[in-house]
Parts: sequence; C-alpha cells; structure tokens
Amino acid sequence: MGRLKDKVALITGAAEGLGLEIATHMAREGAVVILNDVREELVRQTAKELQMEYESDYVAGDVSNKHDVTKMFNQIIERFGKINILVNNAGGSLHTPRVLEEIEEEHWDKVLNVNLKGTFLTSQAFVKHTKENGGGKIINMSSIGGRTASLVTGVAYAAAKGGVINFSRRLAKEVGEFGINVNVIAPGLIISGERMRHLFYEENSEETRMQIFSEIPLQSLGTKEDIANAAVFLASDESRYMTGAVLDVNGGRFMG
Ligand SMILES: NC(=O)c1ccc[n+]([C@@H]2O[C@H](COP(=O)([O-])OP(=O)(O)OC[C@H]3O[C@@H](n4cnc5c(N)ncnc54)[C@H](O)[C@@H]3O)[C@@H](O)[C@H]2O)c1
Repeated sequence: MGRLKDKVALITGAAEGLGLEIATHMAREGAVVILNDVREELVRQTAKELQMEYESDYVAGDVSNKHDVTKMFNQIIERFGKINILVNNAGGSLHTPRVLEEIEEEHWDKVLNVNLKGTFLTSQAFVKHTKENGGGKIINMSSIGGRTASLVTGVAYAAAKGGVINFSRRLAKEVGEFGINVNVIAPGLIISGERMRHLFYEENSEETRMQIFSEIPLQSLGTKEDIANAAVFLASDESRYMTGAVLDVNGGRFMG
C-alpha cells in the first residue's frame, strides 16, 4: 500500500476492462488516477463510481487526435499541477476483421491510429510536461500479438502492437536522461470484459481454444489483476532501474 503516494496517473482507455483495473490498483496504491476514454458518458460514470472510494477524475477524448490529447493534458495540469505516470492502454483490434483479405484501409488506419499513433501523441505530451519536472513513468500496452504470430489477432493489430514495442525502446533511449522510464506490458489472452469473452468463446473454434490452452505452461488464462499488478510495479520505484523492457504476462505462452 502507498507505493504510488503523491503520484498523478493518466490511464487511457480506462472506462472499463484492463484500463479500469489498472486505474483501480494504482488508486489503491495512493495515486490520484485520471481515467481517459473516447466513450465520454461511460468514462464519466466509471470515474464517478471510482471517486466514491479514491481520488480520481476523468478526461474524455480520442488518443489518436492531437487536439484531444493536448486538451486532456492541459486539463490535467490545470487541475492537478503535474503528471507522473502515463499508461497507454487504449487500443485493441477495435472490431476490425482478422483475415487479410477482409481488412479495409479504414480498418488498418483505425487500429494503427489508436494503438500506435495514440501512444506517440500521449507520450509526446507527457514528456513535454515531465522532462523538466523530475521525470516519470510511461507504461505502454502491447500484446502477445505484438511479440509473436498469434492465432487470435490479425496483421494490423500485430503491426501496431509490434510497433508499440520498438517505439517504446527507442523512446526509452531518448528520455532516460530526464528520469523518464518507458516500459511495455505484453499480456496474453485476458478475458477483460464481455467483448473479450465473446471474441474468445464465440469467434474461435473449440480447436483453436484448446490449442491456445495447450500452449500455456501455467495452464490458465490470465486475469485483469495479473496485468494491473505488472502496471503498478512498472509505475513504482521498485522498477526504477528498468527501461525499454517488455514484461510478458502470458503464463509462459510466449517466452521472449
Ligand atoms: N484483453 C486482452 O486479452 C489483451 C491482450 C493483450 C493486449 N491487450 C491490450 O490491452 C489494452 C486494453 O484491452 P481490454 O481488453 O481492456 O480492451 P477494452 O476494449 O475492454 O478496452 C479498451 C478501451 O479503450 C477505449 N478506446 C478505444 N479507442 C479509444 C481512443 N481512440 N481513445 C481513447 N480510448 C479509446 C475503449 O472505449 C475501451 O474502453 C488494449 O490496448 C489491448 O490491445 C488486451
């Protein structure tokens, strides 16, 4: 408890799912947490519920839109005077097809824009605010699909999440001197909500599901808590000597 005391954390894509879980764990550790999501009404409602127990707030906006990102960061600095932790969690395959022939240009753009360009825009704004103020922590969400060829993701998602990893390593080199750590979490398959439940159980054959299970040495799917615990660690001083690293939280399904 108290590992993130006095820290201000922005978690993108946090109206529900892994983002909300990460925000809740960070709040429990003493951080002031700011939830972002493009779904304004849902994130407002989620933040209201979190506020009953923890100091928290929300900034609605699209992470792939520079205007929105600038506005979000200005709001945070106005309200809290600083920002210490950024979790680039917004993303996913965003209801786009997996099969190459079915991927339209707009699908490709959407997946790359939210997962990769969004990570760039928010990181740029974060570095601007923290490089003269003692640094901070950037935690970027990749995926097992960005580490290796995964059966459950398509090429756009694989390219975006692979991109997030190299983006993070390159950025880690550039901003280390300012006390900014940049690390990555690459989760395996996590049933983070109804959407993932549907994706895993309805859109995959029994055979594919069994194959995935058989590939996991620890023999179960991960939980939202597994990912949130990794995020708290990367946000805390316990990871102070780590940067440019990828934490594979996948039960051993892929070992980097
Ligand atoms: N659940 C998994 O199995 C899994 C595995 C590997 C990686 N991940 C990654 O973890 C992250 C969270 O996954 P999840 O399962 O909780 O997904 P989710 O769909 O439940 O949550 C993603 C959130 O991002 C928000 N969002 C989408 N576009 C946005 C935008 N332009 N700006 C701001 N917010 C936006 C959505 O509204 C949603 O609330 C994603 O980056 C995903 O790719 C998830």
